[in-house]
Amino acid sequence: MDLESYTATEEIAVKDTTQYDSDTDASSSDGDSFHPQLPAEAAERLQNLYEIVSERSEHLVGFPSCKDWDYSALFPFLSFPMNNVGDPYIESISKVSTRDIERDVLAFFADLLRAPVDKVWGYVTNGGTEGNLYGMYLARELYPTGMVYYSSSTHYSVVKNLHILRQQACEIQVQENGEMDYDHFRSIVMENTDKPAIVFCNIGTTMTEAKDDMNKIKAILDELEVSERYLHADAALCGVMCPFLPTRPAFDFADGANSMSISGHKFLGSPIPCGVVLAEKDLVEKIKRDISYIGAPDTTITGSRNAFTPLMLWYRIQSLGRDGIEKRVHMALDNAAYAEAKLKEMGIPAWRNRDSITVVFPEVHMDLKIKWQLATAKGASHLICMPNVTKTQIDAILADFAEYMN
Ligand SMILES: Cc1ncc(COP(=O)(O)O)c(C=O)c1O
Repeated sequence: MDLESYTATEEIAVKDTTQYDSDTDASSSDGDSFHPQLPAEAAERLQNLYEIVSERSEHLVGFPSCKDWDYSALFPFLSFPMNNVGDPYIESISKVSTRDIERDVLAFFADLLRAPVDKVWGYVTNGGTEGNLYGMYLARELYPTGMVYYSSSTHYSVVKNLHILRQQACEIQVQENGEMDYDHFRSIVMENTDKPAIVFCNIGTTMTEAKDDMNKIKAILDELEVSERYLHADAALCGVMCPFLPTRPAFDFADGANSMSISGHKFLGSPIPCGVVLAEKDLVEKIKRDISYIGAPDTTITGSRNAFTPLMLWYRIQSLGRDGIEKRVHMALDNAAYAEAKLKEMGIPAWRNRDSITVVFPEVHMDLKIKWQLATAKGASHLICMPNVTKTQIDAILADFAEYMN
């Protein structure tokens, strides 16, 4: 289909979402005209689901998901059985794909994360978890006897990944702000200097957006003369933000990372979870196997891979540009500062890590947790000021907080 001549209503059976508007009464409407393929009961269920999801996404402020995007221009691509199976850099015999678009996305991230040109490899994943698994897989292949060090603020999925990979690991304590306790790290590495060190660095922890400092980590490894080392950066939320922060943290390839994982549905935003993993190319060579069935090397975790998410990431990057992303970072930081200040004015001891959009405060009432989907752990709740969270919305949240303080 020629996209320029595409009109959704005439040429392709793309659903117009206005059919789901909340004032539509599915039970009394002619279900057949909305969902001709569905029995009336199923059509009604779909309508109800739409209303629930619409309402809930308005109150999603405790998890780092953006929702201020419009991918409707990409709807025509949902008509094709696209699949990016195999290595994104090598053309497969499976050609209904967005592999070249995926490569552009990877090039954008490689530049953003100061990866050495032509020495980095990557792919669009199903999310941050897969990218972290990939990083640890490469590390294990490089150093099968290595010891993985991760902090107790690390995302819960990482311990599971280490278990899957059967890697030896030590948990490192954290400081109050959620950042690695470097003294504890030093003391634990000291007991294991005979083993290569695989350090899982958090570049924005889940609960407090704390960033482990790669410079400090490298200095400790130098001091203890551990030369066999691998640094992975889990930059699920912050990978896109860090290059634009007022104080750039030590977090990327130029700072010593061997691999990095970022979630695509977080700061950039997409309705389908996705992410990007980047790693030094020579490490990936170690795990590569040629598969004649797809006519391409098998270098990724999954076989079939989503071809629509690279398209969304590409569309988002193209439409925002670097400047647009930078503006969103500053807007989010500004709103987080606003939320923190307002909470303090109300007498709530809120705090944030430096240059962070996550505002942390003591655990709130269950009703507030449920209404605003405020993630809570170890007695603390948080509000994440993603770029779609406005000051008006922050005011509405705080008005609810105030009710529960009386
Ligand atoms: C620090 C951190 N790492 C990894 C993940 C997992 O990422 P995903 O949900 O994209 O798999 C998250 C998710 O919130 C996270 O906060």
